Amino acid sequence: MLSYIAITMSSPPPLPDPVRLTVRTSSGSYTIEIAPESSRRLSALLDAAGVPARRFVVSTQTVWRFHGERLQGVTAEDPILIPDGERFKHLATVGRIYDALIRAGADRASAIVAVSGGVTGDVAGFAAATYLRGIPVVQVPTTLLAQVDSAVGGKVGVNHPLGKNLIGAFHPPATVVIDPELLATLPRREFRAGLYEVVKYGVIASRPLFDLTSQNLAALFARDASALLPVVAESCRIKAAIVEQDERETGVRRTLNFGHTAGHALEAVTKYRRFRHGEAIGYGMLAASALAAARGVFPEADRAELASLITKMGPLPAVADLSAAEVVEATKRDKKVIAGRLHFVLPAAIGSTTIVGDVTLEELTEALVGIGLKG
Ligand SMILES: NC(=O)c1ccc[n+]([C@@H]2O[C@H](COP(=O)([O-])OP(=O)(O)OC[C@H]3O[C@@H](n4cnc5c(N)ncnc54)[C@H](O)[C@@H]3O)[C@@H](O)[C@H]2O)c1
Ligand SMILES: [Zn+2]
Repeated sequence: MLSYIAITMSSPPPLPDPVRLTVRTSSGSYTIEIAPESSRRLSALLDAAGVPARRFVVSTQTVWRFHGERLQGVTAEDPILIPDGERFKHLATVGRIYDALIRAGADRASAIVAVSGGVTGDVAGFAAATYLRGIPVVQVPTTLLAQVDSAVGGKVGVNHPLGKNLIGAFHPPATVVIDPELLATLPRREFRAGLYEVVKYGVIASRPLFDLTSQNLAALFARDASALLPVVAESCRIKAAIVEQDERETGVRRTLNFGHTAGHALEAVTKYRRFRHGEAIGYGMLAASALAAARGVFPEADRAELASLITKMGPLPAVADLSAAEVVEATKRDKKVIAGRLHFVLPAAIGSTTIVGDVTLEELTEALVGIGLKG
């Protein structure tokens, strides 16, 4: 008997359409190009954006090993590879970038191209902000967190032994080039950490983004470009719109801190070792929404929906051994307490927030216990 095996040659799905955003700043404007394979067209994109022709790539061993090849043509200069990780986000690493630039004779007609996650983007951006009183920086973010958050907005800087991000500048990028394909090599935990910030944007400003994320979790984790592109683009659009209204964080930009009061405190009490930043924000959003629901300003159905999405995204490091009182103490050190009351970004619905100045320490303690900390 003859049997036939049908082989269907399926063609790869079409690439999603590129998205280009423009961000206005007090010193001009820049574009964010979000497109699959944009990193392969980097030279042309930088030429089009008017980036000076002498370009110095700043990256890390890890990122360069995975993606250096596709970026070979960007510059004739050797890449400046700096050590990776938050513990190297300090002035000595900036010094290494200065050394390399000076040795190569980089002048005011030179630019830095940061190809990296948020740590190196912040460090390279700070080097660019200060070298010869400022040369252009291009951000080519390679983590989800950097693509949706740190590469947009112009904040650059480093840590000091006494605190995070204490030394910095506002130095908006000359342009931002986002290639979702670079995320294919990102460890799942790092990817998830960035996705909590996406959820944050959904809660503060966009019910459609929240739904898009929650309905496409599997495709997002599979790094499917057609699922990633709209989610990254909408996140950048929200951050850019907020930053445009409030470049120097005096008002509306504070809404971006949703989930960050408790989140920063959780990071601090665990000495920045237990959580990826986004994971701490996952808990911070749960705490803020529990607090808002207890006050009756956030519908219970929305609170449950947010909690269910965060749970669905995957496991978070344990918090059962952490004392709520200690975490509340840490928020005080974060200078957010005025006369025993906390400033807090609370969700009002999925898609909008309200900023209040009267959260009591007891309310926060109760919310933290509610999400699993020790009473
Ligand atoms: N400037 C801002 O507005 C702003 C906003 C948010 C966060 N930040 C800063 O961002 C930093 C965190 O950034 P992050 O989460 O990107 O961390 P990160 O830069 O440390 O990157 C995380 C890890 O992913 C690896 N990696 C990066 N790209 C990869 C890729 N494509 N494939 C495989 N591995 C890859 C890195 O080597 C690193 O080990 C913090 O220092 C934070 O303060 C800044
Ligand atoms: Zn954050």
